Amino acid sequence: MSNILIVDDEVTFAKNLAKYLTRFNHDVATAATVAEGLQLFRSRSPDVLVLDFRLPDGTGMDFIEQVRATDESVHIILITGYGTVELAVDAMKAGANDLLTKPVSLNELRERIDAMTQQQRTSSRLRYFESREREASHSILGQSPAIKALTQRIERMASVDAEGMLPPILITGETGTGKELVARACHFLSARRDRPFIEINCAAMPPNLLETELFGHERGAFTDAKERKIGLLEAADGGTLFLDEVGDMDLTLQAKLLKIIEDGRFRRIGAVQEQQVYVRIVAATNHDLQARVDEGAFRADLYFRLRVLQLSVPPLRDREDDATYLAQQFCQQMGLRYRRERIHLGPQALAAIAAHRWPGNVRELRNVIEQAVLLATTDTIEAHELMLPALRSSTTSDTSGAGESGSALDRSERELLVKALAESNHNVSQAARILGISRDTLRYRLEKHALKM
Ligand SMILES: Nc1ncnc2c1ncn2[C@@H]1O[C@H](COP(=O)(O)OP(=O)(O)OP(=O)(O)O)[C@@H](O)[C@H]1O
Ligand SMILES: [Mg+2]
Repeated sequence: MSNILIVDDEVTFAKNLAKYLTRFNHDVATAATVAEGLQLFRSRSPDVLVLDFRLPDGTGMDFIEQVRATDESVHIILITGYGTVELAVDAMKAGANDLLTKPVSLNELRERIDAMTQQQRTSSRLRYFESREREASHSILGQSPAIKALTQRIERMASVDAEGMLPPILITGETGTGKELVARACHFLSARRDRPFIEINCAAMPPNLLETELFGHERGAFTDAKERKIGLLEAADGGTLFLDEVGDMDLTLQAKLLKIIEDGRFRRIGAVQEQQVYVRIVAATNHDLQARVDEGAFRADLYFRLRVLQLSVPPLRDREDDATYLAQQFCQQMGLRYRRERIHLGPQALAAIAAHRWPGNVRELRNVIEQAVLLATTDTIEAHELMLPALRSSTTSDTSGAGESGSALDRSERELLVKALAESNHNVSQAARILGISRDTLRYRLEKHALKM
């Protein structure tokens, strides 16, 4: 749960966002002006600040400067109506962590808040998350043979249980294909469903923190170790430990992981005695692990061990008619959520969805539909209301507005990405830092613009 403050003079938007975030257990307050916002900021000291750029009594930039004078740690997301490169750079210089351009997808905004608070927890030493909700394979939507085969495979893998360490499961697939959903299904469809499901993102923290997190430590193991601390492996005993982004794990930790997979034995940091756990390891990555092995960044022996039980989640473009099917499902879900029960996709919109390549996969589709449901002017969503990139560029001859600003936005976002990549010498972590966004967000955006890391 995060303490969030939204400062936006579009009261309906702020209210909707607050309602939405509250549903995900966040504690949210809203303000409509700089003055009111600063007052609330002082009384609540929020973890996350969502800030509109244009406010009746000042700009978001002024707000950021005042806040940053006293608070280094709050995460700031600035929302603007137009995304120019200069503005983004200024905002980041002033101390914003993230910049979003309108229309904002509630889902994306929430994902960013979650990613930020995840980083924040890292520094406040509370770095793991037990599953919030029980998701099983019924939440993996889709009618294509590819997705049906996948769910059958998940069910088979989940139904195998035995004494001792179960073989690990490796989930591979492009960004946004649903790897996390699949990992949850592996757990909640298994006999271990009442045991803990614990997930940790291996890319989100430095190796030594990840190590302490996984193994725990004895009292006095190092200067900060004032108390004994149980690691995630022990916490997940009898259940499932989900190692997300395992391809980014550091090589020495990979060796330790391999040992655990083999016999379930490990040592807390600073301990003499070994411990035994029975944990199913589920690992996910959107890297090509074979390529990581060839580069010397991933241990071959660990890769061979992991890939025995592999679930490869297909990109959305390879799932026959699933894009339109999922779009309709999401449209219905969002319609209920936003009280627009009669909303549906028109035939042209469905055709555009079928034709699009969905580089961001299901996540992109979900965001597009959410945005369209929120902004649609009638009960039928038309193709142009989806604001798909291809349509944006094909409407450049039309001077009616939305298409134009969309493509200008796209261009400036692309320019920013290219600049950050050049500056960081194509180092993803560094580029993400320059832009003040998470690596996940950066990867997603690179893919969206078909840019190479
Ligand atoms: N088949 C599906 N049915 C319904 N929702 C889905 C499906 N696949 C993915 N989603 C939704 O799409 C979003 C992205 O999925 P998820 O986070 O599991 O992707 P991922 O593969 O882990 O991506 P990344 O590599 O970027 O971490 C989530 O909101 C998820 O609930
Ligand atoms: Mg994921």
